[in-house]
Amino acid sequence: MLNKQEFLEQLKADILENDICPNLRETATQLVLGDGNPNANIVFIGEAPGKAEDEQGLPFVGASGRFLNEMLEAAGLVRADVYITNIVKYRPPNNRDPLPEEKRAFWPYLMRQLEIIQPKVIITLGRHSGAVFIPDLHISKDHGHARKVKYHDSEFLVIPLYHPAAALYNGSMRQTLIDDFLAAKKLADQSIH
Ligand code: URA
Repeated sequence: MLNKQEFLEQLKADILENDICPNLRETATQLVLGDGNPNANIVFIGEAPGKAEDEQGLPFVGASGRFLNEMLEAAGLVRADVYITNIVKYRPPNNRDPLPEEKRAFWPYLMRQLEIIQPKVIITLGRHSGAVFIPDLHISKDHGHARKVKYHDSEFLVIPLYHPAAALYNGSMRQTLIDDFLAAKKLADQSIH
């Protein structure tokens, strides 16, 4: 029986083998599957890798990642306590928004990734990743509000948050994101114990 890390490696191999989003694969340096603890109770899902992520092969390692690390620390967590990934696993050219067909192409793989990890709570970062779980999402009104989302036999608690990049240089949005983040951590603790 494979362990979770081995299942994740198998998943990565399948994405490559099935040549998902060949155009993105062509322009990206590498596939960025995810980072952190495969046994985590909390999974963070962003949109797609940026430049630093594409270079290093790890999600959220640029400016947004530093802000994410700060919030994790404020919540008493380190990256190794959680798992971090994106909907789309290749950097879109010039960091454009991921296209609907790219999100659709990666959706079954994201679901497999979640079924392997089995988190209690999913924290989406930004409207793109929020909307793949909550189709009628209005991020300005729904941020910080948890919703139960069913998928096949799994049920996840999804908490949509603003994207760190959007909040980084906007003082009031930054504070809202920090407040939502700390509240989401409390909610995660309640659903874990
Ligand atoms: N923004 C994202 O959505 N994901 C990353 O991995 C980095 C920046």
